[in-house]
Amino acid sequence: MLNRIKRLITNLFQIGRFRMYSKTDHVPIIYEIARGKAKSGHLDNYLELGIALGACFNKVAPLAKKSFAVDTNPDSIKCIKADNCESFLCDTDSFFKGLGANNPIHFDLIFIDANHQKEFVEKDFYNSYDRLAPDGLIIMHDSYPPNESYTKPELCGNGWKVFDIHIEEHFEAVRLPFYFGLTIIRKPDTSHFEGWK
Ligand SMILES: C[S@@+](CC[C@H](N)C(=O)[O-])C[C@H]1O[C@@H](n2cnc3c(N)ncnc32)[C@H](O)[C@@H]1O
Repeated sequence: MLNRIKRLITNLFQIGRFRMYSKTDHVPIIYEIARGKAKSGHLDNYLELGIALGACFNKVAPLAKKSFAVDTNPDSIKCIKADNCESFLCDTDSFFKGLGANNPIHFDLIFIDANHQKEFVEKDFYNSYDRLAPDGLIIMHDSYPPNESYTKPELCGNGWKVFDIHIEEHFEAVRLPFYFGLTIIRKPDTSHFEGWK
């Protein structure tokens, strides 16, 4: 009996060798990266663009000294549980514009996961890079859709093209090839390594 239930559950989630991918497979990975940065004293400010139900934000935000959440959906903003957090009910463009040129804030870790269309992903990336602290990391979701059916706007979108065209060529970046993909970009702190890339 027990074995039959076990087989049923297994079959529900696996068809042959194809595993059904979950929308939250990225969370433990981002959490571990954030934990590493926090442990070494390099996680003052965490920013997440696109919160949804807070699956990632509510796990990662408490690790930072201060966390910032941005989403256009009021229900997403309501999901935020962390105390050390400021939330912004607006689109990502307005968030960056609203920071203003005189605001010195820079982020040590930025997770980009808002609008997944190429033009938006590209803008979010450059705006984020400008506000990234030296040695900071940007993590971008959905850079490795399993197949074409996952490139619909409500799934991974076509944002993955930004990685192929620009990012991997011009920045210090690595793409983790598990579905739906995470790309990690570092902003080198050139002050430590003069003459180093
Ligand atoms: C894929 S979900 C985020 C998932 C979340 N990061 C997680 O890991 O659980 C995308 C979210 O981005 C928000 N969003 C879409 N376009 C946006 C934009 N231009 N600016 C801000 N938020 C946006 C949506 O409302 C939605 O909540």
